[in-house]
Amino acid sequence: MIHIFYMSRAVCPLSDQDLQVLLDQCRRDNVRHNITGVLFYSHGNIAQLIEGDAAVLEPLFDKIASDGRHSNVVRLVSKTIATRSFSDWSMAFHPMEASGFEALQEFQLPHHLQQPPSTLTIADAMMVDLMRLAVFGPDSVPADPVEPAHA
Ligand SMILES: Cc1cc2nc3c(=O)[nH]c(=O)nc-3n(C[C@H](O)[C@H](O)[C@H](O)COP(=O)(O)O)c2cc1C
Repeated sequence: MIHIFYMSRAVCPLSDQDLQVLLDQCRRDNVRHNITGVLFYSHGNIAQLIEGDAAVLEPLFDKIASDGRHSNVVRLVSKTIATRSFSDWSMAFHPMEASGFEALQEFQLPHHLQQPPSTLTIADAMMVDLMRLAVFGPDSVPADPVEPAHA
């Protein structure tokens, strides 16, 4: 199993209704394909973590990356994982303030990212914990975090 984390920029700001349509589509298809994850949205900025079998996730990511609703899709993390971090969520959703979004990575907005930062070995386990914290609150972060599979 792998997870992929990317950031992107909506081509046009997504209304609540646009987001609902997108989430309905994601959740329906992700249940079918046993994909889980979380989507963050703030003022046109998108971050998504998707987890599942590589054979399903890689082609899905290609599809997502070429989706006309967003651009500047930058794949930041692809990694083998032992367990899912969002096993109960066909796609959790978390709208964020711009400032909260900025805390998700060492702040660069998606449309300024040209390539994965070379410093990204900075614990994607931490990134996932941060996401869990943002979505589920302080009790969701394991005291003894799951060891990341490979650096
Ligand atoms: C920001 C964003 C996130 C998306 N996330 C997912 C997802 O998690 N799962 C999914 O099946 N489609 C997702 N999509 C939709 C896909 O890009 C694509 O529209 C969908 O897989 C249907 O493709 P098809 O019409 O070729 O079957 C996402 C699209 C966008 C813009």
